[in-house]
Amino acid sequence: MKKIIAPSLLSANLAFLHRDIEMLNESDADWFHIDIMDSSFVSNISFGSLFTKYVKKYANKPMDVHLMILQPDRYIEQFKNCGADHLHVHYEACIHLNKTIFSIKEYGMKVGVAVNPHTPVFLLQDIIKDIDFVLLMSVNPGSSGQKFIRQTYQKLEETKDLILKKDSSALIEVDGGINLENASFLFKNGADILVAGTTIFSNSNPKKIIHKMKFCNNDLS
Ligand code: DX5
Ligand code: ZN
Repeated sequence: MKKIIAPSLLSANLAFLHRDIEMLNESDADWFHIDIMDSSFVSNISFGSLFTKYVKKYANKPMDVHLMILQPDRYIEQFKNCGADHLHVHYEACIHLNKTIFSIKEYGMKVGVAVNPHTPVFLLQDIIKDIDFVLLMSVNPGSSGQKFIRQTYQKLEETKDLILKKDSSALIEVDGGINLENASFLFKNGADILVAGTTIFSNSNPKKIIHKMKFCNNDLS
């Protein structure tokens, strides 16, 4: 397990975005997680590729872009040009998932496939060897600040089994409702990457929270 922390900028203070980017640059965070929403796949609208381009200009860590949009194929080139290093698409949003995966790779990005809480992971069995990340949604996508869905623990086990069975090198990323307590449990049980928004940005000392999350210290003081 890698213990990668990917703070979600959805919970950053956008009025002070540059300050928050600098804070993450200086912190133990490993990646920048950017949540793109289209008001169709999920009900909210969040950021677009221009936001990604701005963050890329100041961020000194990989850009982990999570597309919560229908027909993501339309935007692969645009996100590549705006600095995405990893591009996650949703299983539920792709009619020709195999084609989408290979298109992302052709643009030189790492590729992740996200699954909603109701989507069983066995559905990834025919593509698991072709992807870099499985993104397990531990909340219903669309907003920050939701409660972690405990069924994710079972899905984590199933994902590990599938990766082993298919001899895949995919890493497991968990996104939504992450706090210090479940973070420590998830890392100890095989998650490689954790995405967290509210827990990090609502704290007066976000760097300290990132440090604790990464080193599995769930002491809240
Ligand atoms: C949910 C997003 C998450 C979200 C996480 O749709 O994919 O990345 O920002 O936020 P918290 O940590 O607040 O659940
Ligand atoms: Zn996300």
